[in-house]
Amino acid sequence: MRRIVILGFMACGKTTVAKELARQLDCDFVDLDSFITERHGRSPADIIQEDGEEQFRELETLALRDVLQNKDARVIALGGGTWTIPANRTLAALHNCETVWLDVPFEVCWNRIVAAATARPLAPDRDTALARYESRRHDYAVADHAIAITPTDRAETIARQISRETQP
Ligand code: S3P
Repeated sequence: MRRIVILGFMACGKTTVAKELARQLDCDFVDLDSFITERHGRSPADIIQEDGEEQFRELETLALRDVLQNKDARVIALGGGTWTIPANRTLAALHNCETVWLDVPFEVCWNRIVAAATARPLAPDRDTALARYESRRHDYAVADHAIAITPTDRAETIARQISRETQP
């Protein structure tokens, strides 16, 4: 069975959808941000704030490599920037992952970012977040599947659509 990798912008619902998909498929899932937090005792946001984004990206690539090499989780949720790094896309290809972009309108992501308790240092204000959202879309678009999501779509429905579109 190919692994399914869920990607997309900050607050697009990657973790929620990956968790629901894993529940429906009755398999394990790994959330890359949580894996990094456990491994380093600091969240991605803390690492970015304390050590800078460049350092975080190095740790993120090592974490993704180790998850793909050592974990048999069938579903993996990436962080919002993971897929924009060429080395990470290469890793996903080497491990024959099937990749799914959750294409969520910017306003939906932004409203959730503002409402969330968690810090997102790479989206400090609306303009910065929007510029990042737009510059990343062409990378997200090279995923194997794109799921266009409206604000009323529920995780359960999105996960069912992913099940239908990906290999059995
Ligand atoms: C990031 C998104 C975050 C986290 C880190 C960097 C990004 O994950 O990996 O703060 O570059 O978009 P979420 O997409 O879960 O917010």
